[in-house]
Amino acid sequence: MSKILVTGGTGYIGSHTVVELLRAGYTPVIVDNLVNSNAGVLDQLKKITGIKPEFHNFDLCDDEKVNQFVAEHPDITGIIHFAAYKAVGESVQQPLKYYHNNFFSLINLLNAYAGKPVNFVFSSSCTVYGQPDQLPVTETAPVKKAESPYGNTKQIAEEILAETAAAFDNYHIVSLRYFNPVGAHESALIGELPLGVPQNLVPFITQSAIGKRGPITVFGDDYNTPDGSAIRDYIHVVDLAKAHVAAIRLLEKGNPKGNYDVFNIGTGKGNSVLEVIKAFEASTGVKLNYQIGPRRAGDVEQVWGDVSKSSQELGWKAELGIDEMMRSAWKWEQYLKDHPLA
Ligand code: NAD
Ligand code: WQD
Repeated sequence: MSKILVTGGTGYIGSHTVVELLRAGYTPVIVDNLVNSNAGVLDQLKKITGIKPEFHNFDLCDDEKVNQFVAEHPDITGIIHFAAYKAVGESVQQPLKYYHNNFFSLINLLNAYAGKPVNFVFSSSCTVYGQPDQLPVTETAPVKKAESPYGNTKQIAEEILAETAAAFDNYHIVSLRYFNPVGAHESALIGELPLGVPQNLVPFITQSAIGKRGPITVFGDDYNTPDGSAIRDYIHVVDLAKAHVAAIRLLEKGNPKGNYDVFNIGTGKGNSVLEVIKAFEASTGVKLNYQIGPRRAGDVEQVWGDVSKSSQELGWKAELGIDEMMRSAWKWEQYLKDHPLA
């Protein structure tokens, strides 16, 4: 079956997508420079699937290496481009680091495929919506001024992709706007590996529960939401991984909507921070220690996605709920305690 280049394939979402691609009969080829992941993930992928995927360790910002890779892999028909820096706070401190990595990697890939037919799936984010005027937010909602250089890289990358697809008809492109990916593979052999103190809610919860961190701080309980805490659309990473297979399939059969398209990838349902904490406790039986703190700068009050377009046109729908997200995240944290990935 078709060979798919998975950039960032040893990372959190990339590794789960590699599993789903293999299950769907594709041959993933990973490129990753391990700047935010670990080569041990390749052995974990073999334990799950029986296959150790082809792996190339280089920086996608190096245009010569990208061109050489593309020349040596003429049978690749699709690309899923995960590789990017993603830490919102760090991007505010070091904007150029983010613009450099996230744009050079993207542009090098697009240049390397000039004139060659290719299906391209891009990792975008619901961050492009900011605080939407209407909920659930649809793909046609206006893109708001980005709150961070990281968010801006996603907005501008979407524009680069739309303009590239309009100018050259060899590129068939889909941007997937992920809501909040959480959880881990049911095997607990792969999952999220945050560096340092986790900035995201669910890794903080699991690290707090296992004793690596102190109590969780709920960032604000004075929002205009039913319990006062902020609301997000949490999506299980395995469901998210499957959305990429659906996007590749859509591009392979030809997207009737044209050479560039955008899809929301969420559950269509919002949960508040306090609901997530309660769901963790209820589904794992582990009591959490938490306190209420002030709002975090840059946070939106509430966002969840309208997922009718993905369901109708991608033929994809999230299947796993918040309890399964929490259970799998906890199982992964427990696995890591005894098996630190080296
Ligand atoms: P991750 O950091 O776990 O994975 C990204 C991978 O890309 C890492 O393995 C890293 O080593 C690699 N990489 C980065 N720059 C590279 C380069 N120049 N050359 C080669 N490899 C490089 O992140 P993730 O959570 O799996 O996110 C994947 C994608 O999804 C990113 O583009 C991210 O912005 C996007 N996204 C993530 C979230 C989220 O909450 N995790 C939400 C929305 C969008
Ligand atoms: C979720 C909720 C916090 C930690 C970020 C990026 C976004 C996307 C996903 C990549 C918020 C609250 C958190 C804590 C808390 N990434 N929280 N205590 O901010 O929705 O999105 O990750 O594209 O671009 O901005 O996710 O997990 O950080 O926060 O109360 O210790 O949990 O305030 O309401 P967020 P998150």
